Amino acid sequence: MKRILIVGAGGQIGSELTTYLRKIYGDANVVATDVRECKALAEQGPFEVLDALDANAMASVVSRYGIDTIFNLVALLSAVGEKNPQLAWKVNIGALTNSLEVARERKCAVFTPSSIGAFGPSSPKDKTPQDTVMRPTTMYGVCKVTGELMSDYYHSRFGVDTRSVRFPGLISNVTLPGGGTTDYAVEIYYEAIRSGRFTCPVPSDVYMDMMYMPDALRACVELMEADPAKLVHRNSFNIASMSFTPEVICAEIRKRLPDFTMDYDVDPVKKAIAESWPNSLDDTCAREEWGWKPEWDLSRMTDDMLEHIRQKLALA
Ligand code: SER
Repeated sequence: MKRILIVGAGGQIGSELTTYLRKIYGDANVVATDVRECKALAEQGPFEVLDALDANAMASVVSRYGIDTIFNLVALLSAVGEKNPQLAWKVNIGALTNSLEVARERKCAVFTPSSIGAFGPSSPKDKTPQDTVMRPTTMYGVCKVTGELMSDYYHSRFGVDTRSVRFPGLISNVTLPGGGTTDYAVEIYYEAIRSGRFTCPVPSDVYMDMMYMPDALRACVELMEADPAKLVHRNSFNIASMSFTPEVICAEIRKRLPDFTMDYDVDPVKKAIAESWPNSLDDTCAREEWGWKPEWDLSRMTDDMLEHIRQKLALA
């Protein structure tokens, strides 16, 4: 990775991944793009307004900057995808196929995140294996499985260096996620500081895999820098670091903020999605093939989230 293009840099992952990559590879070597202007990213390094559905515009940015690696981060998340499945397919698959095609033509590597959402109710629930039944029941999941298959196809058929991880719900304190089923695990920290109470849209006892953003960012770089000779899998690796229910995260916050309270107003769409996803993933293949190892657990993440959000809201 020497000259990197981020497609969808204004989102939850992109806004932090851009800064992270710029620190490692140099500001000028990481070109951030998004459908909207992103002032903070544009002040740091090269930025272009780019509609990921415009294949010619994407190809022109890739050639103008001499790009060798594309991070395709464009996606409508699971819950919002169920409100408009046709749009979710159009956007998620449109950005994917454009990224893969431009990568084939201009010999770039491609990273497209997959998700725990690629699994479905017929997948094994606990320690879900790397290679198993994948029949998701959301449009988001259908797009993720398609993305995995298309990325592997471009690798085997055209030799494109495609790699990917199945992200758990990502928890961060920089940019809010939007329209996901795991968003509650971010919102709960903001509300704990802001109002001391939170109304949870997901049932109290549903386990989902989660990950703190610093681990997720490191995973992207470690996988893309991994020795290709060691990769048995490519699209896409299970990675895991923690799994919890709303009750468990609530109890963790209460250890630090004893007056914090939580009630429930369960959203039926999010409930159905959450219950169709694994309780926890088995990430043995990622550990063996490229040395994946998480650094953050729920307790350390909670300390860090509360501290950062406290500072952020005090400044606001
Ligand atoms: N965070 C995503 C969602 O909830 C899952 O990858 O939609």
